[in-house]
Amino acid sequence: MSRPSPATPAPVAPLLLAWYDRHARDLPWRAAPGTPAMDPYRVWLSEIMLQQTTVAAVRDYFHRFTARWPTVEALAAAGDAEVMAAWAGLGYYARARNLLATARAVAAAGGFPDTRDGLQALPGIGPYTSAAIAAIAFDRAETVVDGNVERVVARLFAVETPLPAAKRELTALAGTLTPAARPGDFAQAMMDLGATICTPRNPACGICPLMEPCAARAAGVQAELPRRTAKTARPVRDGVVWVALDDARVLVERRPPRGLLGGTLAFPTTGWDGTDLPPPLDAAWEEVGEVRHVFTHFELRLRVRRGAAGGNPARGAWVARRDFDPAALPGLMRKVWALAR
Ligand code: ADE
Repeated sequence: MSRPSPATPAPVAPLLLAWYDRHARDLPWRAAPGTPAMDPYRVWLSEIMLQQTTVAAVRDYFHRFTARWPTVEALAAAGDAEVMAAWAGLGYYARARNLLATARAVAAAGGFPDTRDGLQALPGIGPYTSAAIAAIAFDRAETVVDGNVERVVARLFAVETPLPAAKRELTALAGTLTPAARPGDFAQAMMDLGATICTPRNPACGICPLMEPCAARAAGVQAELPRRTAKTARPVRDGVVWVALDDARVLVERRPPRGLLGGTLAFPTTGWDGTDLPPPLDAAWEEVGEVRHVFTHFELRLRVRRGAAGGNPARGAWVARRDFDPAALPGLMRKVWALAR
């Protein structure tokens, strides 16, 4: 459902690209507007990091990764634990495992595939990321649709269908806008417009390059779009985490490769779904507090128990305190450490 567009719609791509030429955000993984593409390794790495993660959070990680591993071959040669530790704190750890798998496949093949289908065959690259890399790194006229772009398109065409049902409709409408020339700049311009002007609340229509063709603005409904079907509340799950330590050592384990926080360094926990795993040691456990962490599909509340180091653990391994780097822990476990240390 969308309102009829104006009789002679102003051409969106030229308006948006002219705006991007003057106002593009300066981001470390980006080529300046209208200049040749950045190398595919940097485009790919940034797009993986930016999945579910903000530009502000990604910047430092991107700098650190590219300083340490300047090419896909260098990354392919890195060890699993090294990369997991460098990724720690960014979240969604399946991305780090897929990152390495893809780096190794690409290094073995001698380079990145340059089509959307070829890219999408690689681990961790779905429809969004394949379109982004194909457009930005390889100048393919692919359409990139993320949450920002959905909002821009919903307003531009005054789409009344609520999200998430509107996704297909919005993707199809977005596809009608993608130009044959400069599709990568166009994709990033849509992202920038959504991030800086066509914002969720109080869109800055007065300075928007797409004010004229915008159907929502014409109807005065821009602040109400996109509509959304009411969300159901996130369920809460409970568990226990055990931190065994003394001045010399601390007990940690590597989580199983599949599943939440897969492959990361962690303190032993119960299952997070009511599964009752026993403590890793016999110790006089003392409860020191609770940490809460929001995952995509549930909120986790972990009661933190601290005990003295000693004996042979049933799970995990002792690590010397001087070798223990809390920065190598994922965010949830850093919170646990802050309480228990
Ligand atoms: N989010 C995902 N990809 C992005 C990009 N290339 N620039 C800015 N934000 C992004």
